[in-house]
Amino acid sequence: NPSIKMPPQVAWDSGSLSGAPLMQKTTHLGDLNGIFADDEAWRGGDPALAVYRVEMLDTPSGDGELYTGVTHLNPGRVGNEFFMTRGHFHARREQGEVYFGLRGEGLLLLQAENGQTRLERVQPGSIHIIPGLTAHRLINTGHDILSALAVWPSIAGHDYAALSGGFALRVTTDILKLMAKEVQNG
Ligand code: PA5
Ligand code: NI
Repeated sequence: NPSIKMPPQVAWDSGSLSGAPLMQKTTHLGDLNGIFADDEAWRGGDPALAVYRVEMLDTPSGDGELYTGVTHLNPGRVGNEFFMTRGHFHARREQGEVYFGLRGEGLLLLQAENGQTRLERVQPGSIHIIPGLTAHRLINTGHDILSALAVWPSIAGHDYAALSGGFALRVTTDILKLMAKEVQNG
C-alpha cells in the first residue's frame, strides 16, 4: 500500500514552521555592530533586544538539496533606520533564492555586485526571485513582525564579509517619506 506522508507546515498567518525537526537562531541588537548607520543610537540600544529570529527546517545539505527557513523580523529602528537583517551575498555567488512574504510589511533590498540597488515591497503573498550575484536584506518598515519564507540551495552559503562596508542604500524614515511622495506624484 502506498502511504501518505505529512509534510512540514507553514502557518500562513504567523509564519511558524511545524511538523518537522527545526533549527532556530535569534540575532540580537548587540550582534549587529557596524550594521546600522547611527552608531551612537546602536550603542544606546539594549544589546539583548531580539531583532530577528530565523527558524529553519533541519533538512539535508549537499549538492541539489534545498534549505527552507522563515525569518521573523521585529519592528523597530536604530536612530531613524528601520530594523533589518544583516544581509549577504551567497558564498557561491551564482546561487539564487526565493522569498515569500507571509506577514507584516517591509522591503527586500537587493544589491548587484556593481553596487546597484533595488527595492521590492514585501507583504503577505509577495514572491521575490533573488537571482544569483545579488545581495539581499529584509527591512521591516511596518509596526508588526515581518515574516518571510525563504528557499535556497544548501550549497549557497553566506558571505557577510563582502558587505561589511554596508549596502549602498539605507532605508530610513526620511527616505520612506520621500519614496511615498514619489509614488503620489507618479
Ligand atoms: O537565506 C536567507 O537569505 C535568509 O534565510 C537569511 O539568512 C535570513 O533572513 C537572515 O538574514 P542574514 O543571514 O543576512 O542575517
Ligand atoms: Ni540568502
